[in-house]
Amino acid sequence: MDKKWLAAAAVLMGILIYLFVGFAYHSGKMSSIVKELQGHQGNGTKRYHIVLIEQERYHPYWEMVEKGAEEAAEEYGIDIEFAGAVRNNMDEQLNLLEKAIAARVDAIIVQGLNEEKFTPLINKAVGRGIPVVTIDTDAPNSQRLAYVGTDNVAAGESLGHLVVETTGGSGKIGVIIGSDLAASQLQRLDGLMQVVGQYSGMEIVAVRSSNISHMEAIQQAAQMLREHPEINVMVGTSATDALGMLQAAKSLRRDELTIIGFDNQKETLNAIRSGEIKGTVAQQPYLMGGTAVKLLYDHFQGKQLLPEYYTEVKVLDRSNVQEEESL
Ligand code: BGC
Repeated sequence: MDKKWLAAAAVLMGILIYLFVGFAYHSGKMSSIVKELQGHQGNGTKRYHIVLIEQERYHPYWEMVEKGAEEAAEEYGIDIEFAGAVRNNMDEQLNLLEKAIAARVDAIIVQGLNEEKFTPLINKAVGRGIPVVTIDTDAPNSQRLAYVGTDNVAAGESLGHLVVETTGGSGKIGVIIGSDLAASQLQRLDGLMQVVGQYSGMEIVAVRSSNISHMEAIQQAAQMLREHPEINVMVGTSATDALGMLQAAKSLRRDELTIIGFDNQKETLNAIRSGEIKGTVAQQPYLMGGTAVKLLYDHFQGKQLLPEYYTEVKVLDRSNVQEEESL
């Protein structure tokens, strides 16, 4: 009888040990699965997942931002995802920001298009422990970690000086801005007005928005020229505006018009070489994308960041356009 009990106890012990070992093995496996789901690699280092939210996906300017960001992400071992409205649309951009917060990504890079609309959402992200870097356009009153991009007021002033130099300080000016909701565009317009306003021979006759669309820039410029035939200088403050103005001028046979633009798209640089566009203020979107990712990498490493990282602009005209690489 005793032997039977002993044998039964031994079998029971065996079963218990088997179950315990199995449990320990599976829970170990489970925790590595959980770690993996949380973004840990096999070697124990975390692989961060970040999102960059653009004003318009597949826009040549934003494609350069993407390229810079993608290359930096590769270099620093970060997973990056790109999002943006198909056509410029602030509500869609805000929705994408909401979605990134809900997805609990490790960090967000976003164009702080409009301070009033974006600040509450940026603060919501930060409140949930998601650091935010603003790019291209800042939301300085938000709790963003840092801003990377052009100093847009200063760039507007550079544009103003270029207009003054090119025209000799006199002219009736028509301005096309990218968007009347975008802080960066309004800041550039401000800078431009500050400089031009110091010359009694210069006057800004009309300001319209292209909605950062080349087609709309053509239409708006044509309408402006019809309404204000006295305009002899046209100035654009976003990437494709000068090209739109050039096309409108050609179709209305206004060859004498002085056109000055922004950014360094290939077609803009070609038109500067041929003399059809007189000059441009070139930003550095590739550098902006790369720097934003690098800053987040530094932040993940525990480094302290500065609030602003201004990328420089280059004023280009026929004399130095050869030096510039195009978008
Ligand atoms: C601006 C961007 C804009 C882009 C496209 C650039 O000049 O900095 O904010 O999205 O033009 O028009």
